[in-house]
Amino acid sequence: MPSTTPPNTKTPADSQTVMSELVLPNDTNGLGNLMGGRLLHWMDVCAAISAQRHAGMVCVTASVDSVEFHSPILQSEIVSLRSWVNRAFRTSMEIEIQVTAENPRTGSHRVANSAFFTFVGVGTDGRPTPIPALEPVSEEEKVAHDAAGRRRQFRLFTAGRLETEDIENLQEYIASIKNRP
Ligand SMILES: CC(C)(COP(=O)(O)OP(=O)(O)OC[C@H]1O[C@@H](n2cnc3c(N)ncnc32)[C@H](O)[C@@H]1OP(=O)(O)O)[C@@H](O)C(=O)NCCC(=O)NCCS
Repeated sequence: MPSTTPPNTKTPADSQTVMSELVLPNDTNGLGNLMGGRLLHWMDVCAAISAQRHAGMVCVTASVDSVEFHSPILQSEIVSLRSWVNRAFRTSMEIEIQVTAENPRTGSHRVANSAFFTFVGVGTDGRPTPIPALEPVSEEEKVAHDAAGRRRQFRLFTAGRLETEDIENLQEYIASIKNRP
Protein backbone atom coordinates (compact mmCIF):
# COMPACT_ATOMS: atom_id res chain seq x y z
CA MET A 1 0.00 0.00 0.00
CA PRO A 2 1.49 3.42 -0.87
CA SER A 3 2.44 5.57 2.13
CA THR A 4 0.43 8.77 2.67
CA THR A 5 3.22 10.20 4.82
CA PRO A 6 5.02 13.20 3.25
CA PRO A 7 8.67 12.35 2.49
CA ASN A 8 10.13 14.67 5.11
CA THR A 9 7.94 13.25 7.91
CA LYS A 10 9.61 11.09 10.56
CA THR A 11 8.38 8.67 13.23
CA PRO A 12 9.38 8.43 16.92
CA ALA A 13 11.46 5.34 16.03
CA ASP A 14 13.62 7.46 13.73
CA SER A 15 14.86 9.48 16.71
CA GLN A 16 15.16 6.63 19.22
CA THR A 17 18.47 6.94 21.09
CA VAL A 18 19.91 4.56 23.67
CA MET A 19 23.07 5.15 25.67
CA SER A 20 24.59 3.69 28.81
CA GLU A 21 27.01 5.08 31.38
CA LEU A 22 28.89 3.48 34.27
CA VAL A 23 28.75 5.48 37.52
CA LEU A 24 32.41 6.16 38.44
CA PRO A 25 33.74 7.71 41.66
CA ASN A 26 34.08 11.12 40.01
CA ASP A 27 30.33 11.11 39.20
CA THR A 28 29.26 10.75 42.83
CA ASN A 29 28.61 12.86 45.92
CA GLY A 30 29.92 12.29 49.49
CA LEU A 31 27.43 9.43 49.96
CA GLY A 32 28.67 7.57 46.88
CA ASN A 33 25.48 8.34 44.94
CA LEU A 34 25.33 9.73 41.40
CA MET A 35 25.20 13.55 41.39
CA GLY A 36 21.93 14.91 39.98
CA GLY A 37 23.77 17.35 37.74
CA ARG A 38 25.78 14.57 36.12
CA LEU A 39 22.59 12.63 35.38
CA LEU A 40 20.98 15.76 33.91
CA HIS A 41 24.03 16.19 31.65
CA TRP A 42 23.71 12.62 30.34
CA MET A 43 19.96 13.14 29.84
CA ASP A 44 20.60 16.39 27.92
CA VAL A 45 23.12 14.63 25.65
CA CYS A 46 20.79 11.69 24.95
CA ALA A 47 17.84 14.03 24.26
CA ALA A 48 20.01 16.23 22.01
CA ILE A 49 20.91 13.20 19.88
CA SER A 50 17.20 12.34 19.47
CA ALA A 51 16.42 15.96 18.58
CA GLN A 52 19.18 16.10 15.99
CA ARG A 53 18.22 12.71 14.51
CA HIS A 54 14.70 14.04 14.03
CA ALA A 55 15.52 17.56 12.89
CA GLY A 56 18.61 16.85 10.79
CA MET A 57 20.22 20.00 12.13
CA VAL A 58 21.83 21.38 15.28
CA CYS A 59 19.30 21.65 18.10
CA VAL A 60 19.46 23.56 21.39
CA THR A 61 17.78 22.84 24.72
CA ALA A 62 14.93 25.33 25.22
CA SER A 63 13.50 23.89 28.45
CA VAL A 64 13.34 20.88 30.74
CA ASP A 65 10.12 20.00 32.56
CA SER A 66 10.36 19.18 36.25
CA VAL A 67 12.73 16.32 37.06
CA GLU A 68 12.44 14.40 40.31
CA PHE A 69 15.10 12.12 41.73
CA HIS A 70 13.07 9.38 43.43
CA SER A 71 15.81 6.97 44.43
CA PRO A 72 19.60 7.23 44.52
CA ILE A 73 21.75 5.67 41.81
CA LEU A 74 24.87 4.12 43.32
CA GLN A 75 28.51 4.06 42.31
CA SER A 76 29.30 1.11 39.98
CA GLU A 77 25.70 0.89 38.76
CA ILE A 78 24.92 1.11 35.05
CA VAL A 79 22.67 3.96 33.93
CA SER A 80 20.74 3.43 30.70
CA LEU A 81 18.99 6.30 28.95
CA ARG A 82 16.42 6.01 26.15
CA SER A 83 14.91 9.00 24.37
CA TRP A 84 12.73 9.75 21.36
CA VAL A 85 10.64 12.60 19.94
CA ASN A 86 6.99 12.57 21.08
CA ARG A 87 5.85 15.47 18.93
CA ALA A 88 7.30 18.04 16.55
CA PHE A 89 5.86 21.55 16.43
CA ARG A 90 7.12 24.29 14.07
CA THR A 91 10.75 24.69 15.15
CA SER A 92 10.55 22.91 18.52
CA MET A 93 9.95 19.33 19.60
CA GLU A 94 9.22 17.44 22.81
CA ILE A 95 11.67 14.67 23.68
CA GLU A 96 10.76 12.04 26.25
CA ILE A 97 13.59 10.38 28.13
CA GLN A 98 13.48 7.41 30.46
CA VAL A 99 16.34 6.43 32.75
CA THR A 100 16.94 3.05 34.36
CA ALA A 101 19.59 1.99 36.85
CA GLU A 102 21.03 -1.51 36.79
CA ASN A 103 22.90 -3.35 39.50
CA PRO A 104 25.63 -5.24 37.59
CA ARG A 105 25.97 -7.93 40.28
CA THR A 106 22.30 -8.93 40.43
CA GLY A 107 21.24 -7.72 36.97
CA SER A 108 18.17 -6.07 38.51
CA HIS A 109 16.84 -2.95 36.76
CA ARG A 110 14.73 -0.14 38.19
CA VAL A 111 13.27 3.00 36.67
CA ALA A 112 15.33 5.88 38.05
CA ASN A 113 13.52 8.82 36.49
CA SER A 114 12.00 10.30 33.36
CA ALA A 115 11.64 13.78 31.92
CA PHE A 116 10.46 15.85 28.99
CA PHE A 117 12.93 18.12 27.20
CA THR A 118 12.08 20.74 24.58
CA PHE A 119 14.67 21.25 21.86
CA VAL A 120 14.63 23.83 19.06
CA GLY A 121 16.19 23.29 15.65
CA VAL A 122 18.51 26.11 14.67
CA GLY A 123 20.02 27.07 11.33
CA THR A 124 23.56 28.21 10.65
CA ASP A 125 22.51 31.71 11.74
CA GLY A 126 21.59 30.30 15.19
CA ARG A 127 17.90 31.17 14.67
CA PRO A 128 14.95 28.76 15.14
CA THR A 129 14.34 26.84 11.89
CA PRO A 130 11.36 24.66 10.83
CA ILE A 131 11.86 20.95 11.47
CA PRO A 132 10.27 17.86 9.82
CA ALA A 133 6.79 16.76 10.95
CA LEU A 134 6.41 13.72 13.19
CA GLU A 135 3.87 10.98 12.53
CA PRO A 136 3.05 8.75 15.56
CA VAL A 137 2.55 5.13 14.49
CA SER A 138 1.53 2.97 17.49
CA GLU A 139 -1.42 3.66 19.80
CA GLU A 140 1.04 4.47 22.59
CA GLU A 141 2.82 6.99 20.35
CA LYS A 142 -0.52 8.59 19.42
CA VAL A 143 -1.44 9.01 23.10
CA ALA A 144 2.01 10.53 23.81
CA HIS A 145 1.60 12.84 20.79
CA ASP A 146 -1.72 14.20 22.14
CA ALA A 147 -0.34 14.58 25.66
CA ALA A 148 2.71 16.45 24.30
CA GLY A 149 0.36 19.11 22.90
CA ARG A 150 -1.18 19.68 26.34
CA ARG A 151 2.23 19.74 28.05
CA ARG A 152 3.49 22.29 25.51
CA GLN A 153 0.68 24.70 26.36
CA PHE A 154 1.41 24.35 30.06
CA ARG A 155 5.18 24.86 29.73
CA LEU A 156 4.72 27.89 27.47
CA PHE A 157 2.33 29.28 30.07
CA THR A 158 4.94 28.64 32.80
CA ALA A 159 7.55 30.41 30.65
CA GLY A 160 5.23 33.44 30.36
CA ARG A 161 4.60 32.78 26.65
CA LEU A 162 0.85 31.99 26.95
CA GLU A 163 -2.05 33.47 28.93
CA THR A 164 -4.26 31.24 31.11
CA GLU A 165 -7.22 31.74 28.76
CA ASP A 166 -5.11 30.48 25.83
CA ILE A 167 -4.65 27.07 27.46
CA GLU A 168 -7.17 24.56 26.17
CA ASN A 169 -8.26 21.83 28.58
CA LEU A 170 -6.27 23.30 31.50
CA GLN A 171 -8.38 21.49 34.11
CA GLU A 172 -8.01 18.20 32.22
CA TYR A 173 -4.22 18.64 32.10
CA ILE A 174 -3.94 19.43 35.81
CA ALA A 175 -6.10 16.40 36.64
CA SER A 176 -3.83 14.20 34.49
CA ILE A 177 -0.77 15.38 36.47
CA LYS A 178 -2.47 14.71 39.80
CA ASN A 179 -3.50 11.20 38.69
CA ARG A 180 -0.03 10.28 37.46
CA PRO A 181 1.31 7.18 39.30
C1 LIG B 1 15.40 28.39 22.51
C2 LIG B 1 15.60 29.65 21.62
C3 LIG B 1 16.22 29.20 20.29
C4 LIG B 1 14.22 30.25 21.38
O1 LIG B 1 14.45 31.44 20.65
P1 LIG B 1 13.32 32.59 20.49
O2 LIG B 1 13.96 33.76 19.89
O3 LIG B 1 12.58 32.74 21.77
O4 LIG B 1 12.44 31.96 19.36
P2 LIG B 1 10.87 31.80 19.16
O5 LIG B 1 10.08 32.70 20.03
O6 LIG B 1 10.69 31.85 17.68
O7 LIG B 1 10.60 30.31 19.66
C5 LIG B 1 11.14 29.22 18.92
C6 LIG B 1 10.50 27.96 19.44
O8 LIG B 1 10.95 27.72 20.76
C7 LIG B 1 9.85 27.45 21.59
N1 LIG B 1 10.20 27.87 22.94
C8 LIG B 1 10.78 29.03 23.29
N2 LIG B 1 10.93 29.07 24.63
C9 LIG B 1 10.46 27.90 25.12
C10 LIG B 1 10.34 27.35 26.41
N3 LIG B 1 10.74 28.00 27.52
N4 LIG B 1 9.78 26.12 26.54
C11 LIG B 1 9.37 25.44 25.45
N5 LIG B 1 9.46 25.91 24.19
C12 LIG B 1 9.99 27.13 24.04
C13 LIG B 1 8.73 28.27 20.99
O9 LIG B 1 7.45 27.78 21.42
C14 LIG B 1 8.97 28.04 19.51
O10 LIG B 1 8.46 26.77 19.15
P3 LIG B 1 7.66 26.53 17.77
O11 LIG B 1 8.42 27.19 16.65
O12 LIG B 1 7.65 25.05 17.60
O13 LIG B 1 6.29 27.11 17.95
C15 LIG B 1 16.53 30.70 22.31
O14 LIG B 1 15.90 31.16 23.49
C16 LIG B 1 17.89 30.18 22.64
O15 LIG B 1 18.77 30.09 21.78
N6 LIG B 1 18.11 29.82 23.93
C17 LIG B 1 19.38 29.28 24.38
C18 LIG B 1 19.47 27.78 24.07
C19 LIG B 1 20.67 27.17 24.70
O16 LIG B 1 21.76 27.66 24.59
N7 LIG B 1 20.44 26.05 25.42
C20 LIG B 1 21.48 25.42 26.18
C21 LIG B 1 21.46 25.91 27.59
S1 LIG B 1 22.97 26.62 28.03
